[in-house]
Amino acid sequence: MTEFKKRQDVRTLHESIGPGPLRVLDLPCGSGRLIEPMARRAYRVVGADISEEMLAATQRRLGGRRGLAGLVRCDVRQLPFRERSFDLVVCMRFLYYFGREERAALIREMSRLSRKWLLMQYRLQETLPSFLWRMRYRAGITDRDRSRRGLTVSDIRREVYDAAGLRVVRVRRVSVWFSDRAYILCARTR
Ligand SMILES: C[S@@+](CC[C@H](N)C(=O)[O-])C[C@H]1O[C@@H](n2cnc3c(N)ncnc32)[C@H](O)[C@@H]1O
Repeated sequence: MTEFKKRQDVRTLHESIGPGPLRVLDLPCGSGRLIEPMARRAYRVVGADISEEMLAATQRRLGGRRGLAGLVRCDVRQLPFRERSFDLVVCMRFLYYFGREERAALIREMSRLSRKWLLMQYRLQETLPSFLWRMRYRAGITDRDRSRRGLTVSDIRREVYDAAGLRVVRVRRVSVWFSDRAYILCARTR
């Protein structure tokens, strides 16, 4: 499943944006799950993460590979990169842990660093998994209603536009059956 998801993440990118060379910031990069497949597509990737352990694991696994342009330890709230230093900023499995205002600030900051593209993951409302969570909650099987944690696609369009003037170019579900997450590819309009 993990391999499948990794391939899917990168395929979404490739289909949407086309082949490299692109300068990419993978934020946060975690253990570098996506760096290797992106590098294989000729993207030049900088990975950034707050965790020294994650960066060390990435360095052990991928250090010296063509395509890995650098690993940087930093907090997403204070990014040490110049404006428009990348063609694309990728933010997977992260944004939806934040509340609306903090998310907007992160989107603004990522958008500042990108010349054109942002690829993010959001959780969606009204998906099959969220319907099933609601049923479980109503039946008393779980005490947390996880069905309410996502946004609608219109909410997302409004959020990214209000935060940074971004236009949503593509929405693609990670899995219709098993996940409420979606890839949201955005382009800068200003
Ligand atoms: C769920 S992982 C996602 C990693 C990667 N994007 C992926 O899809 O595999 C979350 C990562 O966020 C990092 N992280 C958490 N808070 C952070 C912060 N404030 N600034 C930078 N990285 C942070 C963690 O160290 C962890 O590696």
